[in-house]
Amino acid sequence: ALRLAVLASGRGSNLRAILEAIARGELDAHVAGVFSDRAKATALEHARATCVPATAISAKDYPTREAFDEAMFSLVDAVHPDLIVCAGYMRLMSADAVTPRAGRIINIHPSLLPAFKGLHTHQQALDAGVAEHGASVHFVTAELDGGPVIAQARVPVVPGDDAERLAARVLEREHPLLLATLRELAAGRIGLGPDGVQHDGAILASPLQL
Ligand code: GAR
Repeated sequence: ALRLAVLASGRGSNLRAILEAIARGELDAHVAGVFSDRAKATALEHARATCVPATAISAKDYPTREAFDEAMFSLVDAVHPDLIVCAGYMRLMSADAVTPRAGRIINIHPSLLPAFKGLHTHQQALDAGVAEHGASVHFVTAELDGGPVIAQARVPVVPGDDAERLAARVLEREHPLLLATLRELAAGRIGLGPDGVQHDGAILASPLQL
């Protein structure tokens, strides 16, 4: 089973989807620990409810981003994860933390990357007037939301959408998208080669569409 460390800052619905899939025998993985930058994150409660160790540390207690990340990742490394999953982890990570872990950290982001990086992606999509929006899972690199995209799910933007309705439509697709990606990774069908995402030994010309 793939050993996961999950980083989450808030609600934790993606984490819960992972925990439920594992409990149902639908994902061959084990969540070895959940880590947060917010002590009040609901994600921590989802973890503890399933007896997964859950830890939060606060950026306020560290002088720099690098110092915070060093503390965070020493906690993460202590559970010896095969893969680190950012599931609603809302802190920018320093290059010092990310670069040595290239290919071992993934993130789910609520847009069809490379479109709409950063925050408020649903409002960004509405403001841009796109007909299609969605979510992406990508390998994390030092460039914010800029690492190789592994898989995407698309949803239509419909008349009358506001950011909240659009976010809900995307979130519904995020959970199966993340699970499908984790299954590919657990089965060893995807890994990060020196020149990008590899799938069945071939560089993916475009991300998996799920
Ligand atoms: C999800 O929509 C995820 O894609 C997004 O935060 C939400 C977390 O929901 N992540 C980002 O915006 C990362 N920059 P959850 O806590 O219920 O899983």
